[in-house]
Amino acid sequence: MKLLFFLSGSNTSFAREEVISLLSGYGFKYEILFNQEQLLLLNVNSTRLDFLFRLGLTHFVLDVIVDSDIDLGLDKILSEIEWNSYLSLKRTFKVRVKHKDNNIENLELFIARSISKYFGDKIKADLNNPMDEITGILYKKKLIIGKKIFERSKKDFNKRKPQLRPFFSPTSIDPRIARAMINVSQAQTEVLDPFTGTGGILIEAGLIGLDLYGIDIDEKSVIGTKTNLSNYGIEKFDIRLGDARKTFDIFGRSFESIVTDAPYGRSTKIDKDKDRMYKECFTTIFDSFKKRCVIGLNMEYPFDEIGFHVENVHKFRVHKSLTRFLHVLSK
Ligand SMILES: C[S@@+](CC[C@H](N)C(=O)[O-])C[C@H]1O[C@@H](n2cnc3c(N)ncnc32)[C@H](O)[C@@H]1O
Repeated sequence: MKLLFFLSGSNTSFAREEVISLLSGYGFKYEILFNQEQLLLLNVNSTRLDFLFRLGLTHFVLDVIVDSDIDLGLDKILSEIEWNSYLSLKRTFKVRVKHKDNNIENLELFIARSISKYFGDKIKADLNNPMDEITGILYKKKLIIGKKIFERSKKDFNKRKPQLRPFFSPTSIDPRIARAMINVSQAQTEVLDPFTGTGGILIEAGLIGLDLYGIDIDEKSVIGTKTNLSNYGIEKFDIRLGDARKTFDIFGRSFESIVTDAPYGRSTKIDKDKDRMYKECFTTIFDSFKKRCVIGLNMEYPFDEIGFHVENVHKFRVHKSLTRFLHVLSK
């Protein structure tokens, strides 16, 4: 099926990687049909869509009805749509339109009229609480119309902003990015964060049903992580006090995926000999994961020197004095 992922505008390259990683992690085959700015149009060889709820950096997903060139004429494009494959007289609908770099006045109305006409004016619109939503996107000359099958809840993610958690640290990562980090790691059963901090990464992993494992050298962070997890209704986790350099000794085994934001800021206790500490921690991490690692740092780190295969590095400007580099690593 043809799916349109409308990606986050501020972290678009990582948003794209999140979608692609999820699809390949679940073993779906896909073909990229269009990939510009926030629009990622894919042909996916599956109708199993239950993974969509995991997404953190996609605003919404459309089951694509039309993917056309507006120069063909709006009337012609709309008149060829078999709306009853997507809408029904038993349900209410609403049309929403997004213009990017182009504009057709009243496009929303044209689409709504085409739907009404198709159903002989018998279908009911509901602008406040529709059962189905048809979205039109006009980007340059491209017109995409689809039925919305997923919308990320901004409200839910906002409730988990670091400053709203019982245990807070200014270094904590935005929950949408933490969620995408988990998805890019392709974790399907479990995740380990060896520098758990306030538990920002583990909260997002817990909410998508993964088994959670964490380590922190600071007792306050261990207690704080547990408090934060419980605050969001997550009760099953294994968080231990310890040194990330001893990950393998602490748990006595390796993990499917490791996702972490390593210590770097002034507000984090880190060893005086940072370079040695990184090298020892990352070597232990290398020995302790099976699938993929996603590691955040405030610089680009030569993970290849440790033996990792560096798949990608995404750069995010967090604020004036912090740029975060998310390293996507495999063996
Ligand atoms: C950047 S913070 C993690 C932020 C975390 N992602 C969050 O959302 O809060 C780094 C954490 O690493 C811990 N830490 C520093 N050195 C460590 C080590 N050698 N082993 C384990 N934890 C360590 C610090 O106590 C701190 O809580």
